[in-house]
Amino acid sequence: MTKLTVGLGGQQYDILIEPGLLGQVASAIRPYTTAGSPVAVVTDENVWGYYGQAFIASLQSAGITARPQVLPPGEQNKSLAGLAGLYDAFTEMKLRRNGLVVALGGGVIGDLAGFAAATYLRGIPYVQVPTSLLAQVDSSVGGKTAIDLAQGKNLVGSYYQPKLVLIDPDALLTLPVRELRCGMAEIIKYGAIRSRKLFDELDVPAAGISADNIQGNAPGTPSQACTSTNSDAILALGTEVSTVPRSLNVAALSTVIADCCSIKAGIVSRDERDEGERMLLNFGHTFGHAIEKAYDFERFNHGEAVAIGMVLAARIGQELGITPAAATEELCRLLGAHGLDTSCPCRPSSLLEILETDKKSSTSWIQMVLLRKIGDALIQPLSFDELGDIVRSVEGKWTR
Ligand code: NAD
Ligand code: GLY
Repeated sequence: MTKLTVGLGGQQYDILIEPGLLGQVASAIRPYTTAGSPVAVVTDENVWGYYGQAFIASLQSAGITARPQVLPPGEQNKSLAGLAGLYDAFTEMKLRRNGLVVALGGGVIGDLAGFAAATYLRGIPYVQVPTSLLAQVDSSVGGKTAIDLAQGKNLVGSYYQPKLVLIDPDALLTLPVRELRCGMAEIIKYGAIRSRKLFDELDVPAAGISADNIQGNAPGTPSQACTSTNSDAILALGTEVSTVPRSLNVAALSTVIADCCSIKAGIVSRDERDEGERMLLNFGHTFGHAIEKAYDFERFNHGEAVAIGMVLAARIGQELGITPAAATEELCRLLGAHGLDTSCPCRPSSLLEILETDKKSSTSWIQMVLLRKIGDALIQPLSFDELGDIVRSVEGKWTR
C-alpha cells in the first residue's frame, strides 16, 4: 500500500493507494464514524452498477450504517439542483454532525458530495473514494469542492479537505476508454508542469500497443497491454475504442497515480488556497473550462477540454517567447499518442468572453500557466487585452 500525506498544519490527511482497497474501506473509515450515525455514500448510477451493492454490504457487515444516495451520472448534476437533492437526502437519512459523507465516484461526485459535506450543518466530515482516473490523480486530492452555475464551472464552492482519500486502481478496469483518456490528460499535465521524468514515462513507442493486446481480458485479469513493448507505456490507448471489460497495467498505473498524488499533495501542502504555486495545476484549465462551457458541457469531457487548453497555453507561451516550439510539439505528440485531440474546435478568440467570467479572473488580468520547458511551468499574469491580442494574432494556426 502506498501512503502519502497532505500536510496542512493540524489538518493533515492521508492518501492510500492500493489495488483492492475498495474492499477495505470499512476499516479505513471507521475512525471517522460514530456507532448508530449514518454514513451517506454518494455515488452515480454507473459506479453504483459496478461497485455499489458490494460497497454498501461491506460497510454494513462491519457494523457501519451505510445509506446510499445514487445520482444520475454527468457534469449537469454538479448543480444547484444536484446539491439540493443531496441536502434532502441527508436530512431524510438523519445525517448529523457526527455522521460521514463518502464520495464514491468520479470528479463530479467528489466535487458535489464534497461541497455538500462542506456546507451541510456548516460542515461534516467526508472521505473521497475516487473511481475515475481523473479523480484518482487529481480531483479527490486538495479539497477543492464545487458546483457549476449556468454562468460557468465551479462558480460556487469551497476549500474543504477530506479526512482521507482511498484510491483503488482496480476500479479503473471498468472505466470507459474515453474516461481513461481524460485521466491521461491530467497525468500529462503533471508531467508537463513538474516532472520531465513522468512525462517521458508516459511516452508511447511509435510501434505502440495494438488493439489486439488491450482488449478482451476481464477485470482483474493481469494485463499484457502495456508490458509487451514498453513497461513504462502506461495507457497506450491510441485509437482504441473498446469500452469494458478490458485489461490495464494496474501496477504501472498505480505507480503513476502515486506520482501524481505526490506532486499534488506537495503543492497543496504549500499552497492550499490557490494563491501561488497551486495555480500551476490550472495548466490548460483556463481555456479548457471555456471550451467545456462553450459547448454546454456536452461535447467535451473535462479532460478532453484540458488537453486542448494545454496546447492553447503552450502556443500562447510560444508567442510570448517563453515556451520553446519543441515543447509544444512534444506535448501535442504525447496527448495525441494517448488518443486526445489537440486542435481547438472553435476560434480561440471566441473563448475570450467566457474567460472574462471565469472566477479566477480579476477584472482585467488573468493568471496564465505557461511552460518554460517540459517539466517546468510558471504563472504569467496577462491583461485581457494582451491575451486577446496574442490569441487573435495566431489563432489561424490553431483551428481545424
Ligand atoms: P465524472 O465524475 O463524470 O466521471 C466520468 C464518467 O465515468 C462518469 O460517467 C462516471 O459515472 C464514470 N465512472 C467513474 N468511475 C467509474 C468506474 N470505476 N467504472 C465505470 N465508470 C466509472 O468525471 P471525472 O472526469 O471523473 O471528473 C470531472 C469533474 O472533476 C469535473 O466536474 C471537473 O471540474 C472536476 N475536477 C475537479 C478537480 C478538483 O480539484 N476538485 C480537479 C479536476 C477536475
Ligand atoms: N485541479 C486543480 C487544483 O486542484 O488546484
